[in-house]
Amino acid sequence: MTVAAPRYDHRPDRASRRRTRHYAMTPPTFFTVEYAINPWMDPTTVVDTALALAQWETLRRTYTDLGHTVDVIDPVPGLPDMVYAANGGLIVGDTAVVARFAYPQRAAEAHAYAAWMTARGLRPVETRHVNEGQGDLLVVGATVLAGYGFRTDRRAHDEIAARLDCPIVSLELVDPRFYHLDTALAVLDDTTIAYYPPAFSDASRTTLSTLFPDAIEVASADAYVLGLNAVSDGYHVVLPAAATGFAEQLRAGGFRPVGVDLSELLKGGGSVKCCTLEVHP
Ligand code: ARG
Repeated sequence: MTVAAPRYDHRPDRASRRRTRHYAMTPPTFFTVEYAINPWMDPTTVVDTALALAQWETLRRTYTDLGHTVDVIDPVPGLPDMVYAANGGLIVGDTAVVARFAYPQRAAEAHAYAAWMTARGLRPVETRHVNEGQGDLLVVGATVLAGYGFRTDRRAHDEIAARLDCPIVSLELVDPRFYHLDTALAVLDDTTIAYYPPAFSDASRTTLSTLFPDAIEVASADAYVLGLNAVSDGYHVVLPAAATGFAEQLRAGGFRPVGVDLSELLKGGGSVKCCTLEVHP
């Protein structure tokens, strides 16, 4: 009789560490690409708004099927980028920092997001310097990783650290394709990140490898389909379906990748994370 050898699995038990999340999303009802404020956008591109809405709805359903809560924010005509709700601000507990956008085309979104925060019973606080919300401000454990170089002004990092009373790590972005931090770095749980090293300055790469020695480094093929524009609950990682190499790395690390196709929204330079504003407890 043969006895099967016990199988040891040294990967952390991530499934038991997942946390139910609270997100806010704005449907792409008025989504178009009519101006170009990042290298992904081409105003001659035809956008299929109905397909964008269907893809967005699949993302929303993915979250609710995973047990998460999704608030839906009213879209505003004339603000085609409002679908990228991550940029609306940074909400941690009672503190709601509202965005101050870098480009005039998006400036009015700040009023819409501030109105939504107020309706939720939060008091939106402004920064003097440009901050594009969770596009550049990512919470990992008790720390905020903050991007600068293209959109969020580095001086806003200090304003936000003071508001939230938490440490902020400033990271410099150097490749215009990866103009927001959330296009180049994904937070997977309170201590784990994934990132694309070439998107960062040498000094910031050193910072990241020192703070996160176990980080997943993704390849160009995944970064260039915005694979890092992903949302994790600590176990399930919702990511662009085309990022198959990153999905494999996640699986090997004990995470559960969930691919979603947001091809229409990629035309505006965004994907899963851009469409998702997390409301942090
Ligand atoms: N077209 C938008 C812009 O350039 C895309 C924003 C993507 N959002 C994000 N969180 N990366 O501002």
